[in-house]
Amino acid sequence: MCGIVGATARREVSEILLEGLRRLEYRGYDSAGFALLDADRNLLMHKRLGKVAELEQAQKLEPLHGCVGIAHTRWATHGVPSAANAHPHLSGNRVAVVHNGIIENHEALRSELIAAGYEFVSHTDTEVVVHLLHRELAAGKDLLQAMLDTIARLQGAYALAAVDAEHPEEIVAAREGSPLVVGVGIGEHFLASDPLALRQVTDRFIYLQEGDVLRMTPTSLQLMDATGKPVTRPISTISVEEDTGGRGHYEHYMLKEIHEQPRALAATVPVEGAREIADSVFGERAAEIFDQVRAVQIVACGTSYHAGMVARYWLEELAGIPCNVEVASEFRYRQRVQHPGTLLVTISQSGETADTLAALRNATDPEFIASLVIANVDHSSLVRESDLVYLTRAGAEIGVASTKAFTTQLVALLLLTLVLGRRNKLDAETAAEIVGALHQVPDCVEKVLTREAAIREMASAFILRHHALFLGRGIHFPIALEGALKLKEISYIHAEAYPAGELKHGPLALVDADMPVVAVAPGDDLMEKLKSNIEEVRARGGELYVFADEKAGFPEAPRVHVLGMPDCPEVLKPITYTVALQLLAYYVAVQKGTDVDKPRNLAKSVTVE
Ligand code: F6R
Repeated sequence: MCGIVGATARREVSEILLEGLRRLEYRGYDSAGFALLDADRNLLMHKRLGKVAELEQAQKLEPLHGCVGIAHTRWATHGVPSAANAHPHLSGNRVAVVHNGIIENHEALRSELIAAGYEFVSHTDTEVVVHLLHRELAAGKDLLQAMLDTIARLQGAYALAAVDAEHPEEIVAAREGSPLVVGVGIGEHFLASDPLALRQVTDRFIYLQEGDVLRMTPTSLQLMDATGKPVTRPISTISVEEDTGGRGHYEHYMLKEIHEQPRALAATVPVEGAREIADSVFGERAAEIFDQVRAVQIVACGTSYHAGMVARYWLEELAGIPCNVEVASEFRYRQRVQHPGTLLVTISQSGETADTLAALRNATDPEFIASLVIANVDHSSLVRESDLVYLTRAGAEIGVASTKAFTTQLVALLLLTLVLGRRNKLDAETAAEIVGALHQVPDCVEKVLTREAAIREMASAFILRHHALFLGRGIHFPIALEGALKLKEISYIHAEAYPAGELKHGPLALVDADMPVVAVAPGDDLMEKLKSNIEEVRARGGELYVFADEKAGFPEAPRVHVLGMPDCPEVLKPITYTVALQLLAYYVAVQKGTDVDKPRNLAKSVTVE
């Protein structure tokens, strides 16, 4: 999604802005731009369609200089990707604005501004903001007041930053529905939609809250809340480990992140060697809230939704707690009925996904007794607005396709199963076994990574295919869904997942020699049933790629290719099988030559509906 960077300093900021944009590239974008105020109060700007590298090239050919500036990577919502629609947008050659989010009432505002004599040069919703701001400034207001009066007219979601040639040291900003963070320097201040963009200049950050409005110069910060009351917000320091550390020797972030899973999983399991999981790992009020839980409603999107689907099996089978799982974009708009005593659990890598956040916001007492979020980003909106929090310790995930965030979410959900389960059906012995298994998870994943070469070889069979089917049963059906999602998003091969028992109710009609079928087939209770489903595929000339426990001795046969998976505790198999499917998708995409870390049309953090 879109990214914002800003800087006000006593030194040149163009390189700081460009580096910030480079660091935000992973989020997905189609164009980029920046505007600077030079020493003579001229507003200067470069905008380019395509990569940040194009913008760098423009800056190289025609260098712009200035100590105050704002920059943006755009992911088109209103108006096609083009240089004209790229941000910043200007008005009256004095004011520039960058914007993340969507202004819902932009059409009415556009008509009003055209009637007032403003000319529009883009098809974006954002352009209304810059003209509104110009109109307020032209009426003699200062930049802060102009911003306050402008946002009073806006409906929708925004993170905004603006500079004005008549207020040469200032940047003003406002946040409503889209994240913004101030980077605190020494005699300089920065702004970004994600602290990662500013890690090269500071490790001290102030997270703006919903409704906050900001005015900053190199030496001052003025913050007010939604009611216009001056506020101070705490400064948080981000530790070095929270940085991404670059790609290292890996060709892509996705591969690096797949390989980081043993470390990320180990960090997400609390207290090494502990035999019991304390309620307090979910927050101070956890024990009191968990005592009242009679049911769980999980809400999430995409990969995080698949984690929720896995958790339903654990919560119902192991903990004996009824659990529903729903995608946030449906949940938020539906008339719902909940069991009394339901805990709302949201799952989100970014903690900023618009639909999940909206679901949390419209799910209030008395519908739910409390909310818990499982998120990977501290200080994110979901983290700030939930009653209980479990932070996964995956570290920054840069590849658009979620990998280590998903497997660490599964660990967090297993921990939730343990703490809720001991209040219900889970006996102490089984609980201790699960905790023991959790301590083995890094080793088990390491073993899966030793199968990388074999999986890479298997991947070559997919590169000329246009479609693929994934099959799983029971708790491994969501893993099949996740495998199919990974394959489609990074290799652009159309992939669908089905519970294997559904095969003969329709999808079997698709099976022929051109339709590879991937079966997630750990040697669990459903293995024999899955074997018959696999035979159904083979009998129709289908080509099968079976991921099965090595020790189950799944028979190789003509058109049946078996990838033997290392032994590990049963409860960890959703995690280990996922890692194998991540590698499969990764190597298919690499061999097809797609943009693995930044697949087309996708964004890392989906902050618009
Ligand atoms: C797929 C993927 C997405 C996200 C989804 C939710 O690989 O990453 O499907 O899982 O956009 O994002 P979060 O987890 O940040 O709420």
